Amino acid sequence: MGTKKSPGPFILVILLLAGVVVVVVYSGAGARMMGMGSMGRHHQGMMGGLPADYINERNPLPGTETVLQDGKRLYQVNCAVCHGDQGYGDGPTARNLVPPPANLYRVIRMPIARDDYLFWTISEGGKAFNSTMPAFKESLSEEDRWKVIHYLRQL
Ligand code: HEC
Repeated sequence: MGTKKSPGPFILVILLLAGVVVVVVYSGAGARMMGMGSMGRHHQGMMGGLPADYINERNPLPGTETVLQDGKRLYQVNCAVCHGDQGYGDGPTARNLVPPPANLYRVIRMPIARDDYLFWTISEGGKAFNSTMPAFKESLSEEDRWKVIHYLRQL
């Protein structure tokens, strides 16, 4: 009697460690470290899994100076707050978002960045991937979405 050790301190240490893991995973830092942000989206994009309405869509607009200027303005109003002025994924609200906003400067140079993939992403947003990427199919006309895509290509 009286020799039994209390498990108290040990359990506290375990809880503390578990707490740290939870904080890291749920903070943007964790998601960033694991590069998780757009994994589900890239997977669907590469496996030809775009919804039928979007597959093989091509930008119908010419990349004229006016189109690019409109695209830039639309980007600054609708996208920069998360994706940042230069598209680096570092807009003013980016820190608080999990998964973090994509680095569009990088994504636009990847083979996955086809017209149909970008148009689908911007139209439908990130709901299917539990992300805060908004769906723009109600708020931006098709033409405006294509203008933004022209602008993205010269970030
Ligand atoms: C509220 C923040 C927010 C706004 C505003 C926003 N996005 Fe996003 N966006 C995200 C997040 C978070 C992701 C990463 C997760 C995902 O793919 O859904 C993302 C992903 C993307 C991707 C996919 C990148 C990839 O890796 O394939 C594209 C393209 C994109 N956004 C374009 C835009 C454009 C263009 C606009 C403006 C018309 C915009 N976003 C506005 C948060 C935002």
